[in-house]
Amino acid sequence: MSAGAPRAVVFDSGLGGLTVLGAIRAARPDVDIVYVADDAAFPYGRLSEAALIARVNTVMARIVACHRPGVVVIACSTASTLALPHLRSAYPDLPFVGVVPAIKPAAKASRSGLISVLATRGTVARDYTHALVREHAADCEVTLVGSPVLAPLAEGFLRGEKLDDEAIAREIAPCFVTKDGRRTDRVVLACTHFPLLIEALERLAPWPVAYVDPAPAIARRLDFLLGGAAGTAAGRTGALVFSSGRPPPPRLQKTLLRYGLEFTPTAAIGLETA
Ligand code: DGL
Repeated sequence: MSAGAPRAVVFDSGLGGLTVLGAIRAARPDVDIVYVADDAAFPYGRLSEAALIARVNTVMARIVACHRPGVVVIACSTASTLALPHLRSAYPDLPFVGVVPAIKPAAKASRSGLISVLATRGTVARDYTHALVREHAADCEVTLVGSPVLAPLAEGFLRGEKLDDEAIAREIAPCFVTKDGRRTDRVVLACTHFPLLIEALERLAPWPVAYVDPAPAIARRLDFLLGGAAGTAAGRTGALVFSSGRPPPPRLQKTLLRYGLEFTPTAAIGLETA
């Protein structure tokens, strides 16, 4: 860590937040990053709303105590769409940047008026998501698709497992809708894990669509909150913390280094499985 640089914690249930981290690094190479993956409780999509709020509160208390961030990016739609109000009232002096399903830009850009939102089942069930649809996509027909499969597949892919094309094709199929000669033209990737699968998502789509990734908007928001000019400290390595404390296998460590992250056992936050 370097003295004086703003410190951002980038937080996700797992490694999906890496897709947000890439955009953050491009926008603000001067920021010291601590990436925290709550792998002990992954996947968040399976947790009830009460259990998820409790878990995120517990993890955040440890993060704040151990890492004293200047800003926290909740790089997880499943957590952001539920827990942000709780976090903001628990830490009124700490700015939080959340991931909002990119329904508004997708609806604006759609020509066919048919858009889909691909997310975890948790995100699809949220009142917050339904409110976004009502407020920003009233002119569109919106298909919400919850997948419990894709985030774990993306984690496996990062660990070097072969992708299961059939499973991916099956999961994304409900996103592709035809109606009165029109067809879906925008699919919102409302889970930060999903852009890790972008090559397969594009290859396995029944027809070409624009997949909408919220990462650049999150990086812009962080830049705005931090203010000031970005530094030029490109290439700085950030700390990677797994809530389980388990070191990643060597192959994954290599992959994580490509994202500019190094597993840091001493940065552990000491949490058990949810
Ligand atoms: N990366 C996550 C999201 O954006 C969560 C996936 C999960 O833990 O189920 O929703």
